[in-house]
Amino acid sequence: MERLHTVIVNLKNYKESTGHNLEPFLNSLNGIEEGRNVRIIMAVTPMDLVNAKKHSRHEIFSQSVDPVTKGAYTGKTPMESLLEIGVKGSIVNHSENRIESGSIKSIMEMAGKYNFETVLCVESLEEAVKYAILRPDFIAYEPPELIGGDVSVTSAEPSIISDVVRACNPKNVKVLVGAGVKTAEDARKSIELGADGVLIASGIVKAREPVKALNAIIHGITDSF
Ligand code: G3P
Repeated sequence: MERLHTVIVNLKNYKESTGHNLEPFLNSLNGIEEGRNVRIIMAVTPMDLVNAKKHSRHEIFSQSVDPVTKGAYTGKTPMESLLEIGVKGSIVNHSENRIESGSIKSIMEMAGKYNFETVLCVESLEEAVKYAILRPDFIAYEPPELIGGDVSVTSAEPSIISDVVRACNPKNVKVLVGAGVKTAEDARKSIELGADGVLIASGIVKAREPVKALNAIIHGITDSF
């Protein structure tokens, strides 16, 4: 059976992809040709999740979730509330929104209970090793200094990617790579290095033609089969 690959587009809080621009942005990406065995997910800020569910034909994940149940928790995002609106997964511990390891552990325990998917971001091989034992669905390796830049993690740190894959595969944890990923070649290389896909933001959101940019990423992945 062919492996399923994953592309997560992180909309962050970019003006091009949030608020009034959320609907046109998501609508434009609704038309992309989905590749064979490529799963596409949009990671959306909690504020825009309800709207995103209305306007996207792709799966929607949250950019964050908190280790709380429904109750007296102000300003938090409970997993139960995400599930209620049909959001079945979330990024956890993104470089731009780091949380304590105790909270990560609680989120992973809750996720197991609720059958909620987690994309746990790490900044180093050490963190990948430390967190793979918590069995998130995905570990996303993103070196913070490359985020938002023009140098792809796939060309700057190929050997670390292979090491992260080696640390995660025995635990059945899938690996995504992100930071500076922009081209079909970057996506192809990530798969060749053993990753299951990419986590990408500016390469799509800030592209002159986001549809073309996402199609290129999908082709890069399918070309590597
Ligand atoms: O979550 C994805 C992100 O942090 C990588 O950002 O802009 O380098 O694709 P970017």
